[in-house]
Formats: sequence, C-alpha cells, structure tokens
Amino acid sequence: MYIMHAGMISAMALQRAVAIGNGKGGCGKSSTAAAVAGLSAAADYEVVLVDLDPQGDLADELGVRDHPDNDGGDGLLRAVTAGVPLPKPIQARPNLYLVPGGPALYDLSGVLLSRQSRGQSVSDALTNALQPIADNAELCIIDTPPGDVLLQNLALTAARWLIIPTTVDTSSIRALHNIADRVGEARRDNGDLEVLGVVLWNIPVAAKRIRREARATIDQVLGKGTTMFTTTIRSAPAAAYEVRVQGKLVHELAEAVEGAEPFWKALREGREVRTPGTAPALAAEYIQLTDEILTRMAAAEADAGAGAPPMEAMVP
Ligand SMILES: Nc1ncnc2c1ncn2[C@@H]1O[C@H](COP(=O)(O)OP(=O)(O)O)[C@@H](O)[C@H]1O
Ligand SMILES: [Mg+2]
Repeated sequence: MYIMHAGMISAMALQRAVAIGNGKGGCGKSSTAAAVAGLSAAADYEVVLVDLDPQGDLADELGVRDHPDNDGGDGLLRAVTAGVPLPKPIQARPNLYLVPGGPALYDLSGVLLSRQSRGQSVSDALTNALQPIADNAELCIIDTPPGDVLLQNLALTAARWLIIPTTVDTSSIRALHNIADRVGEARRDNGDLEVLGVVLWNIPVAAKRIRREARATIDQVLGKGTTMFTTTIRSAPAAAYEVRVQGKLVHELAEAVEGAEPFWKALREGREVRTPGTAPALAAEYIQLTDEILTRMAAAEADAGAGAPPMEAMVP
C-alpha cells in the first residue's frame, strides 16, 4: 500500500502480515508458522503462508513437498526480483494457501545485494510481490530463514507484526539482541512494525523455574516490558517428527489420536505406534497461542480504529 506524504512516497506494511523471525535456526519458526496458520485456517480465517526459507520446510509441514505446483521458491524469487505476479499459491488445506520456498531462494539475496550495490533500493521488493495476495487474505504469515540478514530485513519491512519464537538456553536468549537490531533497521522503512510477542518454545514440561528465568533474561536483553506470550510450547520431538514425516499438522495428528485405535493394540500386534501421545497436549498449546495471537491483533486493530472489521478472537 502506498500513501502520498507531502510529495514523498512511503511504503506501509502489509497490515495483516505477521513475520515469524529470529536470526537463529532451530528455534521453532517453521513449526510455529505452520501450526498457527493451520489452526487459523481451521477456524475459518483465509490464510496465506509465505516460505521465505531456501530450506522450504513448510512444504513438509503441510505435506505438499511433491505437489505439482511446488516450484521450490522459483515463483517467489521471480516475483521479488523481476516484479512478475506470483504464481497461484498451493492450496494446502481449506482456507490455507502456501507460497512455497525452497532452493531457488538461495539466489535471492545475491540478486538484491548486487542491486543495492548499484544504489537501488530493494526494501519494498517483498512487500510489492506479496501485496496482491496478502491484501486479500485475513492473515499472511511469513516464515523467515535464519542467518540471511537481507531476507530477514525484507520480511520485517513487509510485515505489520513480528513473532519471535525462542528456545530458553542462555545463548539463544542472549542472541535475541540480533533480531532486536533487525527490528530497529526495518523500522527505518516500516514504521508500522511491532513485536506482537516472544514465545518460549521447546520447553521441558513442568519447567516453571526455567520459564521464569527465561522471561527475566528476555526482559534484560530486549528491554523491560517486552511482550511475551503467556502460552509456551512444550518439547515434543516425537510428535514434531511425525508432523514432517506424515505432512500432517499437530492438531491433525491430535485428532487422529482421539479417533485412533488404542495404542496397546498396535503394540500387542507388534506394529509401530505412529501417532505419539504428545500430539494432543502440543496441539492444545498451539491453539492457545493462536488464540493469543489473533486476540492481540484484533485488540490493536480496534485501538487503531481501522476501517476493516476487527478479527474476532478464536475460541479455543
Ligand atoms: N515441540 C517440539 N519439540 C521438539 N522439537 C520440535 C518441536 N517442534 C518442532 N520440532 C523440531 O525442531 C526442529 C527445529 O524446528 P523448526 O520449526 O524447523 O525451527 P526453525 O524454523 O526455527 O529452524 C525441527 O526438526 C522440528 O521438527
Ligand atoms: Mg525454519
């Protein structure tokens, strides 16, 4: 969206876009992006999920790695670098559309960096590419790659909101100042950007002290009063493994558990138990987190008196 400002054109963020970011890898960005997108779509929001990562993990999370329209990020690369319209996103579920990432995106920052070195501004490139689909969606979630500063900046320039998942080991929490630096940089182009919240991820169950100390350290690193989500996401590696092997979202695995044959039957017959019992508890936490996210966005929109009707909070 562009607004004329006393002869100057200033870019505005995509208002329903939420980036999931943290300079580090392995802190739950893609898992959180997929789970929250899937639950919002199941709750009837029209959701677009954008995978800006050359690893393309979201295709596995959604079970569409072999989909004929999975172009490994090529369409996204061309939309951002050449301004051609994005190809039709992959419909992964009812109401849930994926703009796939993948290896084509390894070229993205190289192309943009060489443009920058010729003095061209590239900060709006992702905003412009996503605008046609993001403006039609109720929620646009952008999953970001670790490491690549330019791609992170592009995502933070396009998004209205940032969600920061983090693990709670001391080094990860100390490294949060990197993402804080990215936010500071992106705000020069995108004054709309705000941190919607930090979510503690991969937490041992019943680790009250760890959670309390992590919150205190985050206050030190990111500044007191940093918005934290109340919900934390538990460590559940077996369920997470099945998500990517089966291409089912956590809440879909949980539903399968509810209706499944008792696990002892499979055990007695010497068959593998394919659906770990941790899926329902993990899904319950992602439902609470999704509710918190949608509630915070709705509250901000109501405060701003935005023209669009506020999003209603999802009832868990
Ligand atoms: N709740 C969980 N507990 C433990 N491991 C998880 C959980 N959810 C996902 N994982 C696994 O942890 C790894 C990193 O998660 P991922 O979401 O890909 O992080 P990032 O996108 O930040 O690199 C992946 O292998 C993923 O399958
Ligand atoms: Mg990832």
